[in-house]
Amino acid sequence: DKANYRHFMAKEIHEQPEVVGHTLARYVDMASERVALPVKLPFDFNDVQRITITACGTASYAGYVAKYWFERFARVPVEVDVASEFRYREAPLRKGDLAVFISQSGETADTLAALRYAKEQGAHTVAVVNVPTSTIAREAETVLQTLAGPEIGVASTKAFTCQLMVLAALAVAAGKARGELSDADEAKLVQGLVEIPRLIAAALVAEPQIEKLARDIAKSRDVLYLGRGTSFPIALEGALKLKEISYIHAEGYAAGELKHGPIALIDETMPVVVIAPYDRVFEKTVSNMQEVAARGGNIILVTDAKGAEEATVDSLVTIVLPDMGSAFTPIVYAIPVQLLAYHTAVVMGTDVDQPRNLAKSVTVE
Ligand code: F6R
Repeated sequence: DKANYRHFMAKEIHEQPEVVGHTLARYVDMASERVALPVKLPFDFNDVQRITITACGTASYAGYVAKYWFERFARVPVEVDVASEFRYREAPLRKGDLAVFISQSGETADTLAALRYAKEQGAHTVAVVNVPTSTIAREAETVLQTLAGPEIGVASTKAFTCQLMVLAALAVAAGKARGELSDADEAKLVQGLVEIPRLIAAALVAEPQIEKLARDIAKSRDVLYLGRGTSFPIALEGALKLKEISYIHAEGYAAGELKHGPIALIDETMPVVVIAPYDRVFEKTVSNMQEVAARGGNIILVTDAKGAEEATVDSLVTIVLPDMGSAFTPIVYAIPVQLLAYHTAVVMGTDVDQPRNLAKSVTVE
């Protein structure tokens, strides 16, 4: 049931501090500040030369975020692909390499076919799934369950942030196993993860401001989302969420790609949502933002207090999220883009939980 919420999606957005917290508790030992996976992995990360991550839609964006984490913490090359492409291009996999599949439902036809293909190639398979009785969970060699609970809204929200939590823990475990992270590094990263549920709750506080902004977004024909680094997949996710429930055309771009094409679209009618925590690529994103401002674009900047202070451009609205010193900003920055899509759809009067033409579980390709 929807508790006191108008839609399942709203309820599920608000459940995130709790369910991400449950997932966290399953994957880390908070007392010792260590990652503690609930299952023993049947392979050694030192033997893995490449990780292939495969999923569809929102789950594939969780995979894109994880790529940055695996490469940074474990220095292992990662390839991310959507399952419909991966399965037919018959990507070469080395025996013993790791293939990770991400799926809320565990029933997505293309992701399942990709899993079967990877198994045939002799890869180790890990499935990050929310439904433990699903086909993908049954067929994968190792299952890492997200503890999001049943997700009813067709647009994925809490499953996504729980996927990120599991993938973050797995990336830290990989870094530790490969000797790229020390005990102290691991402890620091785990401390960062432990903060996440509280930070998500703090991000939800921005909802009234986002609700107001949604009234302007609802008047737009197109919306552009920009981000760099781990914020790039959050830009993709923000755009997907907006188009699927409000039917407003949106695109997510790597901020650095702006000048390679999409900048031609910028005018005063197209809002540009910039996802930019004050991190190592912040300055670069700000210079892209200045390019947008110089062309009369209206910017909604999602950042933290430090970022808001540093970013000086005109026609700017800032959504200020809590400061966080860790590499795990995407788990928190997912919240405002979910809220923006949700409230825009509510203004538009669409069927938020059952958007047209979409199914919760895509069991046919
Ligand atoms: C977006 C959305 C879809 C799913 C995709 C994969 O909000 O819900 O893009 O993420 O269909 O579904 P699962 O995770 O069940 O494999």
